[in-house]
Amino acid sequence: MRQKLAAGNWKMNGMGPALAELETLTKTHKKSACEILICPPATLLSRASEAVNGNPVAIGGQDCHANSSGAHTGDLSAEMLREAGATAVILGHSERRADHGESNKTVAAKTMAAWESGLIAVVCLGETLEERESGSTLKIVGTQLAASLPDGANGVNSVVAYEPVWAIGTGKVPTLEQIAEVHNFLRTELTSRFGEEIADSIRLLYGGSVKPGNAAEIFATSNVDGALVGGASLKAADFSPIIQALEAS
Ligand code: 13P
Repeated sequence: MRQKLAAGNWKMNGMGPALAELETLTKTHKKSACEILICPPATLLSRASEAVNGNPVAIGGQDCHANSSGAHTGDLSAEMLREAGATAVILGHSERRADHGESNKTVAAKTMAAWESGLIAVVCLGETLEERESGSTLKIVGTQLAASLPDGANGVNSVVAYEPVWAIGTGKVPTLEQIAEVHNFLRTELTSRFGEEIADSIRLLYGGSVKPGNAAEIFATSNVDGALVGGASLKAADFSPIIQALEAS
């Protein structure tokens, strides 16, 4: 059985006062049946991990460099994230792929670096609207999965997040059939590459405009093991009902 995962990506949002949201989440979900992960901006990592104290909310980064140290101004290594209290890191988010030109190859290298530092890699993929409309969604996400997730992936070191680019921050959500189609496809691809046992252990998250109002139906969809939530993870009042929907699923 895959442990359900509710992950929040704060992106470039959150200053000191936002830590109060984490404290509320920690109190509200003390005995959660699912894993909860919050990925704040790097500036808050240390304070966030102190605020949650490891349980039940885990803390993650939003990116890391592929190297463990060196002349890379402005970058952070996986080891640094780990030292600051992260246990996971989001990699290959479409905003990183678009804003920083990250290729599948880069994402794969970062994923290996995350594993080496003992971080869970949350590897993101998803098609643009143009790609969906031209009927190439499965081809695109299949290529991204194959090239972004290195050999050696398993349910302990990796999570895959399907985030259609056109659904991120737009309020537009794919139909449940569209989500199921992609998630079932990803599971099949993982099975043919890694075998059934490993493929069945890797969690598949859906991300893109997940809100308290649509979470339950998304979580009831085939092969959806949780969500990667942006805007609705910033406030405990929004994220808690999403976690509750996941607990009930
Ligand atoms: P929204 O939930 O704000 O659409 O963002 C999704 C996302 O990009 C999470 O990584």
